Amino acid sequence: MSINIPRGTQDILPGTVEKWQYVEQVAREICNQYQYKEIRTPIFEHTELFERGVGDTTDIVQKEMYTFTDRGERSLTLRPEGTAAVVRSYVQHKMFGYPDQPTKLFYQGPMFRYERPQAGRFRQFVQFGVEAIGSEDPAVDAEVISLAMELYKRLGLKEFKLVLNSLGDAASRASHKEALVSHFEPRIEEFCSDCQTRLKKNPLRILDCKKDRDHELIKTAPSLKDYLNEESTAYFEKLQHYLTTMGIDYELDPNLVRGLDYYNHTAFEIMSSADGFGAITTLCGGGRYNGLVEEIGGPSSPGIGFALSIERLLAALEAESIELPVTSVLDCYFISMGEKAKEHFVKLTYQARQQGLKVEMDYKSRKMKAQLKSADRLQAKYVAILGEDELAEGIILVKKMESGNQEKIELDHVIDYLKKQ
Ligand code: HAM
Repeated sequence: MSINIPRGTQDILPGTVEKWQYVEQVAREICNQYQYKEIRTPIFEHTELFERGVGDTTDIVQKEMYTFTDRGERSLTLRPEGTAAVVRSYVQHKMFGYPDQPTKLFYQGPMFRYERPQAGRFRQFVQFGVEAIGSEDPAVDAEVISLAMELYKRLGLKEFKLVLNSLGDAASRASHKEALVSHFEPRIEEFCSDCQTRLKKNPLRILDCKKDRDHELIKTAPSLKDYLNEESTAYFEKLQHYLTTMGIDYELDPNLVRGLDYYNHTAFEIMSSADGFGAITTLCGGGRYNGLVEEIGGPSSPGIGFALSIERLLAALEAESIELPVTSVLDCYFISMGEKAKEHFVKLTYQARQQGLKVEMDYKSRKMKAQLKSADRLQAKYVAILGEDELAEGIILVKKMESGNQEKIELDHVIDYLKKQ
């Protein structure tokens, strides 16, 4: 019996992988312009990092982590997201001591969540994300948001929107939390068991419950925006002012609650508005996390970041029928007629590649027609045909595929000839 890929994962095959590489390259370029430096952290971390970092009342920690015990009896977890690990590294390597703050980092790599797979939702997916740690200036929030928007824009997406909310500072959240508890407590038994636990630990998450989303108490729940204190309101207004001056449109959504516990002040998502994108429209999510560095054992250092999955980005491009410029061409396909010509090509292709040319040859002693078809499929600019007679004469027939023009070239000069084209 053959073995298939695990549920919720995918093979990215040649033909598609070029799109991934292209997107990753554009993301890198933008990070370079914005001065975010790449960081690579391990695929697995101590489970406690995510329990403390992401929050033990979140769905991610309660239901979705790939956790295992290693041979040394340590509990380890495949990272479900990147922020906690980046913050761990920031603390461990004392990046708060770097002269230039905020420390601006980006990452790209696989994340793992045991979720119910569906369109746009995988168990292994690749996140591209950035984190700016060490400044509490709304200008940094604006920069981070603009970076995410820029990536979608540069790839040609048109139908997407920025949705923004403020979760306020700790004081605002505490008074909102109190109001939520008084609102839900008298009728909490009408809610699912998860929400009953959330009431005490993190009642804000009740608003985000998938099971109870239609309950009337959710619709009438006290809104966080009515509990933002003066500082939080001023912070949020300043951010909006910056976005407006940058010409970045946004929608305010007071119900935008992110699925991770570390957020305060700014929370945002970028959603696709393309027809036929599917049920899950969030392309990117992020926000500010001013208490996270302390939670993970570092000094108080405010941070903000976002992450987006390449899977959803590519799906959005597809929904808008956007083709990425990823076609690759071959400089020359070497067509051999007979064993001796093929043997000659073993050396010639090696030398051509050393000279920087992109070339291919036939390894299956196929007929000329089949080799020509390969050259076509590989979008070869030239084919160079060698048979026993040409070999004896020391020449090779070079044909330009576009025009059909043919030339006889001295075999020793064919690489130079191709290099000049
Ligand atoms: P998140 O909202 O959990 O936030 O995930 C961010 C993005 O990752 C989502 O908007 C989506 O594009 C992608 N994503 C999440 N789960 C899946 C999945 N199962 N399949 C495919 N794509 C998925 C975070 O992870 C935070 N660490 C973001 C952040 C960084 N906040 C501050 N800094």
